[in-house]
Amino acid sequence: MTTVRLNSADPVSIDTDALIVGFRSGQEGPRAATAAESLDAAFDGKLAASLKAVAFSGKAGELAKLPTFGAIAAPLLVAVGLGDAADPTPETLRRAAGAAVRSLAGTPRAALALPAGTQEQAEAVALGGLLGAYAFARYRTNGAQKAPVAELTVVSGQPEGVAERAGVLAESVSLVRDLVNTPPSDLWPAKFAEIAEQVGGKAGLSVEVLDDKQLKDGGYGGLVGVGQGSVNPPRLVRLSYTHPEAGKTLAFVGKGITFDSGGLSLKPSASMDWMKSDMGGAGAVLGAVLGIARLGLPVNVVGYLCLAENLPSGTAQRPSDVIHSYSGKTVEVLDTDAEGRLVLMDGIARAAEDGPDLIVDVATLTGAQIVALGWRTAGVMANDDAVRELVVEAATAAGEGAWGMPLPEELRKGLDSPIADIANLQPERWGSMLAAGIFLKEFVPDGVRWAHIDMAGPAFNKGEPYGYTPKGGTGAITRTLIGLAERHASI
Ligand code: BES
Ligand code: MN
Ligand code: ZN
Repeated sequence: MTTVRLNSADPVSIDTDALIVGFRSGQEGPRAATAAESLDAAFDGKLAASLKAVAFSGKAGELAKLPTFGAIAAPLLVAVGLGDAADPTPETLRRAAGAAVRSLAGTPRAALALPAGTQEQAEAVALGGLLGAYAFARYRTNGAQKAPVAELTVVSGQPEGVAERAGVLAESVSLVRDLVNTPPSDLWPAKFAEIAEQVGGKAGLSVEVLDDKQLKDGGYGGLVGVGQGSVNPPRLVRLSYTHPEAGKTLAFVGKGITFDSGGLSLKPSASMDWMKSDMGGAGAVLGAVLGIARLGLPVNVVGYLCLAENLPSGTAQRPSDVIHSYSGKTVEVLDTDAEGRLVLMDGIARAAEDGPDLIVDVATLTGAQIVALGWRTAGVMANDDAVRELVVEAATAAGEGAWGMPLPEELRKGLDSPIADIANLQPERWGSMLAAGIFLKEFVPDGVRWAHIDMAGPAFNKGEPYGYTPKGGTGAITRTLIGLAERHASI
């Protein structure tokens, strides 16, 4: 894991392998956004002209590397663009730091000289750098992957606690990315539960795991039904963090399908090869509860990981099966590929028994989310307008794309079943993200505030890396959940 510390020294004198400098774009070419005078002096006023010569303008996201020939202590200068805004946003800083640090894989140490005068800015630079240093090399045997930067220094006069906080956030997100990237041959429900027990125990959480027998006896028909086709049986993990001064209790419920083949309603291969990411919701919940505990936030949090593997077999549930959910409601399974809502309905009903002030479920729930909002923007639905807005606001502040979506009442009729209380699928495909939300809402008891985050797209980056986001598992929504806990903290 990459480490980060703060250092208020003049960046030109910092002993490091690469100095990353943030630049603003402007009419007269790129201008260093911090330490402009000492950089000007060290490079005899020639830095801007050299950057222009390599076609660097300071546009947000732009990168250029220049050897320093001894002009400063670091042998390499990495210029990163921040755009033309007078005051770059925290997200601009996170992305710039992340892209620059990622480009330095193979370099042991780097220092970041970006605007970091405030606590918020310094944290953004540190966090972006740490998230940009993420790498998943567990399965490489040939050394083909360059090691990420190991030691980061953020040039800032802020107290060291800022770096510690960024470190906690980055470790939470990195854990989620690792879990999402781990192939399903090495991450099945019981294994995921074991990891939750290990890391949760270390962070002082109380962790309970229900195994398949306990799930059956306890009436968790959704988890049992979805998991019954696999030789790797389902689990329900409950993580709990309490704080003596807490005034509020939050419940997070994560979809944890360690692999989603679709079950008997089998997916085509092209839609299946990345379905190891279908546990990203449970990952985000685990990462968030850990992060909240490690930050010691004055709020109580319970996290539920709804873990199952959705496979076809002679024991798999069939389309037209009726299952008895934990809430008592019966559900006709018209499509075994609409399995996420079946594990979540049990998790939500169970979470409600904890008497939380708010339930938030997180799930890679529908392809329709990607159709509606694309890869980077999660859909947020809720049974309360203020709750929905709060979740969107927390996500936006974290730099995680999210947008409010409605739960139109008229969609409930499409979920009518001829024989059970509700069906898990509406007959038409239009509005499927919203229909899934309407389905889940049925399992939220009256009077309980609830939000649903569909992050089918944001959980996994099939494209090229950008900003601080790598290819593969992204750790999306982990920081949003931590932000929500901060917004419910009592002091
Ligand atoms: N895990 C998928 C949703 C998904 C799709 C996540 C793409 C990430 C990327 C989910 O279980 C699923 O299969 N949903 C179906 C629901 C349909 C059968 C109502 C879908 O969206 O097609
Ligand atoms: Mn599915
Ligand atoms: Zn799924």
